[in-house]
Amino acid sequence: MQPFRVFVTRAIPDQGIAELYELAAVEVNLLDRPLTRQELYEKVKDCHGVIGLLTDSIDREFFDHAPKLMGYANYAVGFDNIDVNEATKRGIPVSNTPGVLTEATAEMAWALLFAVCRKVVASDAAVRSNRWKGWNPLEFLGQGVSGKTLGIVGPGRIGTAMALMSAGFSMQVVYCGPQNPLLDKKLKAKRVDFETLLTQADFVSIHTPLTEKTRHLFDEKAFAAMKPTAYLINTARGPVVDEAALVRALEQGAIAGAGLDVYEFEPNITPGLTRLDNVVLAAHTGSATVRARTDMAILAAKNLAAMLTGKKPPNCLNPKVFDR
Ligand code: DGY
Repeated sequence: MQPFRVFVTRAIPDQGIAELYELAAVEVNLLDRPLTRQELYEKVKDCHGVIGLLTDSIDREFFDHAPKLMGYANYAVGFDNIDVNEATKRGIPVSNTPGVLTEATAEMAWALLFAVCRKVVASDAAVRSNRWKGWNPLEFLGQGVSGKTLGIVGPGRIGTAMALMSAGFSMQVVYCGPQNPLLDKKLKAKRVDFETLLTQADFVSIHTPLTEKTRHLFDEKAFAAMKPTAYLINTARGPVVDEAALVRALEQGAIAGAGLDVYEFEPNITPGLTRLDNVVLAAHTGSATVRARTDMAILAAKNLAAMLTGKKPPNCLNPKVFDR
């Protein structure tokens, strides 16, 4: 009999969690929806380990309902859904999945960037609905990318990957956040402050984590500072953008367009957004490649296996718990 019980809050690639089967009795939520809080609490009450999603709130109440918990592994790199301090206070290690979804998410940022500035979705819709009457010199005119300025807000792993991918388009890169020697060296990128980035960039791409400091970083004032020809791309976290202010900025032409993969009130979308044709809306698919989602599962399982056996997991978010 396996010594531990593990609950996985939603089906994830099975390949990943296979190694856990040797160590634990694993139950997976096979419903095609996230569990309600009460359902989740019922499932985790006897569990030693949990693999959860960014849609699960891993907070004080959750920990209260999981008294045997020895570790929690987030199936995501972002971890704003976890109260890490609370976990640390209780001596429970928690982990995330950095590295394995970097390229996938950076590619998605580019996909949204092109889709919005070259009106790919609008022209696809016209073709499908038979509204397209043939080649028209004045139809679906967008903005090109080559030679323009790309602004990266948050030059971490994903922001850096997105910036490096710009090399083929001869772009200038500006970024705000910690100094990034790789971008400085390879792209002669310029580190600037947030306000300067907003005024210089033709494309502003968000790659900062959601924290109390970055919540609504993009507000009315930020949109007013951007060029009216600029585009905003967000593959990070929805609440970094004040969506009501974004809708106003898009309606009033304060900026040219936006490509969004994440939303302030996910999965609900601020109503004005869906009426606008200068936005492209994706369904939080930044990491949605077979490889990335499989590797995320493998990494989450590795992290959890380490925690169950009393070892520091490779991607520990609160290593302090192992100092005790
Ligand atoms: C993450 O990992 O944080 C993404 O939002 C989902 O893969």
